Amino acid sequence: MKKTPLPEGMDLQVLYSEERIRTRVKELGGMISADYADQLPLLVAILKGSVVFLSDLIRSVTIPIQIDFMAISSFESAGKPGGVVRILKDLDIPVSGRPVIIVEDIIDTGLTAGYLVKNIRARDPESLEICGLLDRGVRRLVRLPMKYVGFEVPDRFIVGYGLDYRQQYRNLPHIAFLPEESIED
Ligand code: IMP
Ligand code: MG
Repeated sequence: MKKTPLPEGMDLQVLYSEERIRTRVKELGGMISADYADQLPLLVAILKGSVVFLSDLIRSVTIPIQIDFMAISSFESAGKPGGVVRILKDLDIPVSGRPVIIVEDIIDTGLTAGYLVKNIRARDPESLEICGLLDRGVRRLVRLPMKYVGFEVPDRFIVGYGLDYRQQYRNLPHIAFLPEESIED
């Protein structure tokens, strides 16, 4: 297994500290609790990047909820998103007639979330919303209304708090920029 540099992430430039993330995630949890009182929403987290966010988010939600997971693969060619998506793990819980919230780590071009919205909407949920920890609106290719957004982020590669570079850095407690020189194409 090839190692990437700075495995501890100690020298990475921090964009959002643990403390700031905690505060913002609590706010998002509070909004969901208020908006979905008495509705038993199903929070659908997209593997693997959103598991850290999901686990903190649900602990700041004070109403009954359920969780489920989907895993998809998307393909890029020459750095451009291809939009080709395949389901690797589907939902266990039926969503028909239920309020559903997609929980994502970062919405970039929006192609991934756009595919999921289409896919889940076809199963006839009562409602469908997106909760993204990070929103990189400058790269958006498809129109995608996001009901809950943690932070707007610039067009630089981000790692930590679930987000990876080549499957590493997910365990950083903060969100950091990965230096350009660490990114190999
Ligand atoms: P989209 O389909 O272009 O919106 O891409 C969304 C997915 O790309 C996210 O779920 C992440 O897995 C991945 N991604 C996009 N930007 C970053 C980043 O800066 N760091 C790590 N993963 C990212
Ligand atoms: Mg992802």
